[in-house]
Amino acid sequence: MPRLKFYQLSIFIPIILMLSAGCSGKATSTFTVVPPTIVVPEPSPTSDLQANSGAPGIGDSLYPNFGNGGYDVQHYTLDLTVINVATSDLDGSTTIQARATQDLGSFNLDFIGFEITNITVNGHSADFRRSGQELTITPSPGLAENESFTVEIQYQGSPEESDSVALSIQTGWVTFEGGSFVLSEPDGAASFFPVNDHPLDKATYTFRVTVPDPFEVAANGVLTETIDNGKTATFVFEAREQMASYLATVNIDEFDLETSQSENGVLIRNYYSTGLPEDFRKPFERQGEMLVYFSDIFGAYPFEVYGALVIDTEFGAALETQTMSIFGRDMIDTNDLEGTQQVVAHELAHQWFGDSVSLADWRDIWLNESFATYAQGLWTEHTQGRDALDNWIEEVYGFVLENREHMSPPGEPRADELFNPGVYYWGALGLHALRLEVGDEAFFQILKTYHDKYKGSNATTADFIAVAEEVSGQELSAFFESWLYSKDLAPIPALGLEAK
Ligand code: TRP
Ligand code: ZN
Repeated sequence: MPRLKFYQLSIFIPIILMLSAGCSGKATSTFTVVPPTIVVPEPSPTSDLQANSGAPGIGDSLYPNFGNGGYDVQHYTLDLTVINVATSDLDGSTTIQARATQDLGSFNLDFIGFEITNITVNGHSADFRRSGQELTITPSPGLAENESFTVEIQYQGSPEESDSVALSIQTGWVTFEGGSFVLSEPDGAASFFPVNDHPLDKATYTFRVTVPDPFEVAANGVLTETIDNGKTATFVFEAREQMASYLATVNIDEFDLETSQSENGVLIRNYYSTGLPEDFRKPFERQGEMLVYFSDIFGAYPFEVYGALVIDTEFGAALETQTMSIFGRDMIDTNDLEGTQQVVAHELAHQWFGDSVSLADWRDIWLNESFATYAQGLWTEHTQGRDALDNWIEEVYGFVLENREHMSPPGEPRADELFNPGVYYWGALGLHALRLEVGDEAFFQILKTYHDKYKGSNATTADFIAVAEEVSGQELSAFFESWLYSKDLAPIPALGLEAK
């Protein structure tokens, strides 16, 4: 029987232990919970256009100040020239192509730190002010509803530490000995570019990143150009599919690149920090098979490329950054190949659930984490048979029961503990219970239909329930109520599992 690897606990247990012990890990530098700053827009006089301010938040129920209202971004172009990799001192320019969804006298972006040297809107220099992570820009002239516009923000400095209200590890751009990496879920993207930082406003991205020799860059999407400038090099990556901002990543290091192709034609490129032991690659050898299997059960792989990036530093986590999931060195356990492969399967499954179909409200995080966690069980079933899945479910059930006090019901995460184990393991049990409730055929049809209907876009818990009811022909509100919102862990009678 495979050893069960509750890998997300490497996020949570350290947090729990470290909170009580008052010490921190390597790349996890602070545990202060910063309350969200809600900026009340100042009323501005004169014309109607000027009076119209875009909202400082997009309307998230857990995080009211995340994202912004009044416009929709189509494309971000990030032009970053890193002068010093050790300090991440950089010159930045972010160009945003967007469309106004209302008349706008002013609008907000989310942006943390740096010195802003210039902002233009449609080529005209614009006034701005900053308060916490809210950057308010006042274009002159104002923008009319439906108008397309271009904002260019120039800035310089080093990214500041961004401490998310949602979890206790450092998010955003992190500088470490040897390079830097970016892991932003849920709100770290603002630590390196001005952004409408909420998954509801997906966009495409171009990354043009210049680094001194001998450093290299790995970002989302496809490397379309490498320009040798003499002592520096510019790497251009195009992420041509809609992407949520928290999935944007720019990593600077020296890498060994390994490319292959899955049998269903997906290009795989894995980046390994040079210097990592050769056997760190082993857990990734079956990614091609996983791509074939998941494409078979979830629907065609939603992006043009995939791969993993393993960084030579420890941060106790892995993240499903779009087209290129990132793993800290400490996520690779060469003595536990199957456990590590489960982590690899988890991040890959997120490409469908989380990346392609994105949540519309952070409260629905179980739509990401429970699905990716259940996919670990599905991979176990695929490779080792149904008994292995049943054993895994039993272990997860026992684990949830035992650690119940550290968990919220999957549909009710706390704002300051978004990634608590309830949204992973408790929710994964709920998906298995759904499968037992509606039968295999309907269950797998539900997964496919849900992905097909919402791919490249956003979905809510209500959307998922509606698909489940439609496909199965069953009324499932009481079922979902008991698995998502009840304080008690529901039984799984078919496996003799119940809370005592
Ligand atoms: N979504 C990650 C996972 O696969 C967990 C996570 C959330 C994370 N926020 C993060 C990892 C920030 C690294 C950094 O479960
Ligand atoms: Zn996950």
